Amino acid sequence: MVYWDNAATTWPKPAMVQQTVGQALRQYGANPGRSGHTMSLATAEAVYACRQAAATFFGLSDPTGVIFTPNCTASLNMVIRGVLEKGGRALTSDLEHNAVHRPVSAVAWGYDTAAWSPDEEETVENFHRAIRPDTRLLVCTHASNVFGVILPIRRLAKLAHDHGLLFCVDAAQTAGVLPIHMELDDIDYLCVAPHKGLYAPMGTGLLLCREREQVAPLVRGGTGSLSMQAEQPQELPDRLESGTPNTPGICGLRAGIDFVEGRGRQTIYTHEIRLLQRVYDGLCGHPGIQLYTPRPVEGNSAPVLAVNVEGVPSEVIAKMLDEHGIAVRAGLHCAPLAHRRFGTLEGGTVRLAPSAFSTMQEAEKIIEKFLQFAEKRLHISENMV
Ligand code: ALA
Repeated sequence: MVYWDNAATTWPKPAMVQQTVGQALRQYGANPGRSGHTMSLATAEAVYACRQAAATFFGLSDPTGVIFTPNCTASLNMVIRGVLEKGGRALTSDLEHNAVHRPVSAVAWGYDTAAWSPDEEETVENFHRAIRPDTRLLVCTHASNVFGVILPIRRLAKLAHDHGLLFCVDAAQTAGVLPIHMELDDIDYLCVAPHKGLYAPMGTGLLLCREREQVAPLVRGGTGSLSMQAEQPQELPDRLESGTPNTPGICGLRAGIDFVEGRGRQTIYTHEIRLLQRVYDGLCGHPGIQLYTPRPVEGNSAPVLAVNVEGVPSEVIAKMLDEHGIAVRAGLHCAPLAHRRFGTLEGGTVRLAPSAFSTMQEAEKIIEKFLQFAEKRLHISENMV
């Protein structure tokens, strides 16, 4: 199968991730941080090792600020609701996935949206103008999950902090792909989908907190600590991590980080962008093919490409590709705001998203199929005139 749906989740997972998950089930089968026996302690150590690896990978000095969550959506909800439950508005962009859009839409004090622009200055200025006296949290995606365009997070962090706001980044599409350093980029909260760019199993999520005080817990319960008291422990990670964690997934996540570090994050990213540049060049200018962004540029694009065949619903194209053994995602990608911004809300787009395991032969096959569909479509339209 030609799997180019890696922006939804990467597949295949590296052999070392698969092996580590199996090994964790055999070796780290006890509940970490709960019991005092040898296997429980060893399991807790394995979980802590992943906290350390994630902290180092994302430039967070204190690994206790690394929170394991079920997915990136849960991480974003924890920040948006946990920070704003007592007051304050959210500020976000017009490219957001529903993982940000829906929680900010439910904030009792409301939210504002700033428009992304291809001109970075204009984007920052749009955010600047949208700040109100009661804005408390700037939360935005690092890159559109549909169109790959990126937001200038370091500049938005400065803007947020100059105005006394907290700053949270949805790095679902960029963690493990683009460079992110919480200290250097001045990020308060980083929300990560490790099953994408970190090649971890699904069911793993990360919330990295550099700001340690302001997020109230949404879920309370057993932490294996301070068990006599009715109140949730205040220290991180326990304040935000109740209940038994996904130890096999967490061990797999650690192996995923090792995989990306071993191959080189930049090497993987460069490979993906080259594949998309080839597809772009192969399709650009052909009658019947619609592209929505300029050619992907290293450092300025997440590795996804939106494309359509004129007059054919994106889901129909995805179905035809599937019949030829090519797996992609079409439709709205849970991101109606971004589709509205790019004028594709009506029919959605086909999204091409390669990974470390994708090849140039696969890129050629995708080009070939798109050109065939476009030609067939033009032929049908001409015959209907
Ligand atoms: N959020 C994921 C995507 O963009 C699932 O497809």
